[in-house]
Amino acid sequence: MTSTFADADELLAALRELDYIADDDLATVVYLATALDRPLLLEGPAGVGKTELAKALAQASGRRLVRLQCYEGLDDNRALYEWDYAKQLLHVQMLRDRITETTAHITDIDEASRYLAGRDFGLYSEAFLSVRPLLESVLSPDPVVLLVDEVDRTEESMEALLLEVLAEKQVTIPEIGTFTARSMPWVLLTSNDTRELSPALKRRCLHFHLGYPSAEREREIVTARAPEVEPGLAGDVVELARRLRQLPLRKSPSISEVIDAARAAAVIQGDDPALAARTHRFLMAALLKYTSDVDLAVAALADTVSEPVVPSPVPERVSVAERPANTSASVFNSRGKGRG
Ligand SMILES: Nc1ncnc2c1ncn2[C@@H]1O[C@H](COP(=O)(O)OP(=O)(O)OP(=O)(O)O)[C@@H](O)[C@H]1O
Ligand SMILES: [Mg+2]
Repeated sequence: MTSTFADADELLAALRELDYIADDDLATVVYLATALDRPLLLEGPAGVGKTELAKALAQASGRRLVRLQCYEGLDDNRALYEWDYAKQLLHVQMLRDRITETTAHITDIDEASRYLAGRDFGLYSEAFLSVRPLLESVLSPDPVVLLVDEVDRTEESMEALLLEVLAEKQVTIPEIGTFTARSMPWVLLTSNDTRELSPALKRRCLHFHLGYPSAEREREIVTARAPEVEPGLAGDVVELARRLRQLPLRKSPSISEVIDAARAAAVIQGDDPALAARTHRFLMAALLKYTSDVDLAVAALADTVSEPVVPSPVPERVSVAERPANTSASVFNSRGKGRG
């Protein structure tokens, strides 16, 4: 049983039931995409919940998730369909006796060849297609959620192929003809913004930039995904991650890393509800992925390492670009120690 949503609030609540915590803007744009049957392009940094949203949406609506994972070199055979040569060969072999019978009266070999060439023996029909995700989403009798994940990893030529599916909800196979959607898929595309997508593709999609969440939403996410972590401790780990995101790191901590770090903090600290300074060091292993980032963070946090360390709240949407270079440590030095 598949269902649609009456409004954005209903969608928000349905996602929340599944521990996917969206904000109003995200829920509204997803709701619009479903109500208008428009593809939705989600762009944003790694680990902010783009793929997870498609999974949660599929589950919330009772639709099957059909996923096309994009990569460099992805081609029609992997994205759309492929002829199943083995099955075709088997089919011809099974027909061999009948073919011999029907061509028995033709003595000339060229003429026999021409006769056979004029027949396709049903080889180019749906039965002999190996269906790949794009075609699968169009052929499915029940509506699906089609996730075209990390579309920026493919070459631009692949986008041309996507356009027909996105704009017309149809797929053309030269030997057979055009398949129009048997049910209307909801289409989500994700991109990490590693290259600019073509204007033609963007034009056909609703667009949403999914960035790092507000502190409040990130606390909710951590509590939903790691309920074993004491809320105060979860909040402290979130604040730590938000401070790290202000540093000019190679890779800022994503939501998934914050969840891991909160779990790690709970394991290290046991029942201690506030983030202790000694725990900081270990959390770096979960939050940061480059030695140079760890060095930078340790230096920046150095002045706040007297126990207990509980970072004070960071203002919303402060970006590295707003600060002069090499002032990262001052972000930490200037803040009060202890709970703010
Ligand atoms: N809004 C959210 N609510 C609940 N969990 C979330 C949310 N956002 C992210 N997460 C958690 O973060 C994890 C990573 O999210 P996801 O894999 O969807 O990231 P992504 O944006 O697709 O990253 P990438 O670009 O690297 O593929 C999820 O498995 C989930 O545990
Ligand atoms: Mg993803």
